[in-house]
Parts: sequence; C-alpha cells; structure tokens
Amino acid sequence: MTVTTRRSSTAAAPVVSDYQQSVADYWNHEKNPVNLRLGEVDGFYHHHYGIGDVDWSVLEGPEDTRDVRTIAELHRLECAQAELLADHLGAVAPEDRLLDSGCGRGGGSLVAHERFGCRVDGISISETQVAFAARQAEKRGVDGKVRFHLRNMLDTGFESGSFRGVWNNESTMYVDLSLLFGEYARLLARGGRYVTITGCYNDTYGLPSREVSTINAHYICDIHPRSAYFREMANHRLVPVSVVDLTAATIPYWELRAKSSLATGIEDTFLTAYKNGSFQYLLIAADRI
Ligand SMILES: C[S@@+](CC[C@H](N)C(=O)[O-])C[C@H]1O[C@@H](n2cnc3c(N)ncnc32)[C@H](O)[C@@H]1O
Repeated sequence: MTVTTRRSSTAAAPVVSDYQQSVADYWNHEKNPVNLRLGEVDGFYHHHYGIGDVDWSVLEGPEDTRDVRTIAELHRLECAQAELLADHLGAVAPEDRLLDSGCGRGGGSLVAHERFGCRVDGISISETQVAFAARQAEKRGVDGKVRFHLRNMLDTGFESGSFRGVWNNESTMYVDLSLLFGEYARLLARGGRYVTITGCYNDTYGLPSREVSTINAHYICDIHPRSAYFREMANHRLVPVSVVDLTAATIPYWELRAKSSLATGIEDTFLTAYKNGSFQYLLIAADRI
C-alpha cells in the first residue's frame, strides 16, 4: 500500500532489513552543523562533499567573521559538486522526470529542477529528511514539481521506464549494487541516463585500507571497489559514457574543512585515504541501453 500526501509520500515498508533500519535511524537523527549550517547559506541543503580550488583568503581577515566566510566557501564547493553532477544528466526536457535516489535533505533535487524545469522525485529511507526536503520545496514554491518520498532505492515502487534520469550522490555505499542497478534498469527509459558520484576503494590498492574501513564504520556504510560499479552496470544494461576521477578535486575541500570549526573528526582519515591511493572520488555517467 502506498500513502500519498500532497508534498511527500511513504511506501508501507521502505526498510527491508535491520541494517537499513540502522541507516534510517542515523539519518533521522543527524543534525550535523557541517550539513545544516552550509545549507542555511541559501536553502540548498546538501549532504555531500565539495570539489574545486579553495579560496584560502577566507581564513584571513577578522576572526569574528571567519566562520561565516569559511562556511560560505565550503558551501560553494559542495554546490559546485551538485552542478557537476547535473552537467552529466545530459539533455533533460521540462516534460521529463528525474529521480534523486538517496536524496538527503533534497538540495540536489532543487538544483536539478532549477536547471531543467522538470519534475523531480527525491527518495530517502529517512522520514525526517523527506519531511525536511518537502518543506524546502514548499518554501520555494516548487512542491508541485519536486516531490519527496519515503522509499527504498532498491524497491522504489515507481512505474517501469518512467524516468529520463536517475542519480545517486554519495548514496550507493548503503546498498548492494546488483540490486540497485537492477532497479534502475527497470526505472530508466531506454536511452535514459544514470549518474553517480561516489567514494570507492581503489582495486589497485588491494582490499579496503584501514582508512576506508574507518570511513565505513563512521558512516555505517560499505564502500564498494571501483570494479564493482562497472561490473554491475554492465550486468544491468548501463553503459558508461563518462568517468571522471574527482579525487584531486575534492582534496582542497577536505583541507579547508579540517581547518574549520565544523570539522567532525573524520577529515584526516579522508585526506590520508585519498593521498595513499586507497580511496577514490569518482563520477560515473552511464546510458541505459
Ligand atoms: C550521504 S547522504 C547523501 C544525500 C544526497 N544525495 C546529497 O547529495 O545531499 C546518503 C543518503 O542516502 C539515503 N539512503 C541510504 N540508504 C537508502 C535506501 N536503501 N533507500 C533510500 N535512501 C537511502 C540516506 O537516507 C541519505 O539521504
């Protein structure tokens, strides 16, 4: 049974395992300033990392306004990441429909709607995130076209072939890729586009490094090897069209974050993992054939 309200909807059983319940609990209670204070800058709330060169001058100047400048800079970098993902969705028409899978507080869905003017559905396993995201869409007056749902990305309940594009922004490490891409092969229209930005472990390193294992424990996730993405895409009619290694581009974001008052304690682990070659930050865009 699916219950639908005007702005958001809930599937009867979005959580299918104890593990998924623990992920839902994590996100239902998450109130991390590194996410909330950055979102407050302009109402685009993201739960992902940033890319691009840092303007280090934000650390100079008056001490009492240093935080405000640093937060604005970190937000600029996370917005640049969301824009890069949207660049890879290809030609999207206003009558198309997109799926933001694992949507967090909904910033990416709003970015895509602003860019393409089309309908966007965002799904999360977290009830509080879905409610938060729905309020943002309402505030912007776009809730007729940007809707948020409490759904499981492995079993979304949406109609087959109904999406022109689907993306995961830092949310594939919570699921089995074979099940995930099976669902996307079903949801995407032929010729549709799938995009992911994700951290993955580098197969050439061997198995997960100490740092990758620490990140898994920190976020209750299971970072996949790079090879698993390509294997499971090939198994599910998703043919890569672009692969961009964003590892070097994300390091400055982490360096600034480590120096900011919003550091959570995981910054040095990410920096070490990126620099020792065990971890990569990758964008993959693929066509559904
Ligand atoms: C790191 S956040 C990324 C949020 C968002 N994509 C962004 O870029 O801001 C991971 C998200 O994945 C969602 N998630 C994890 N497992 C899920 C599942 N099985 N089904 C739906 N959402 C899930 C979490 O609720 C959370 O919103």
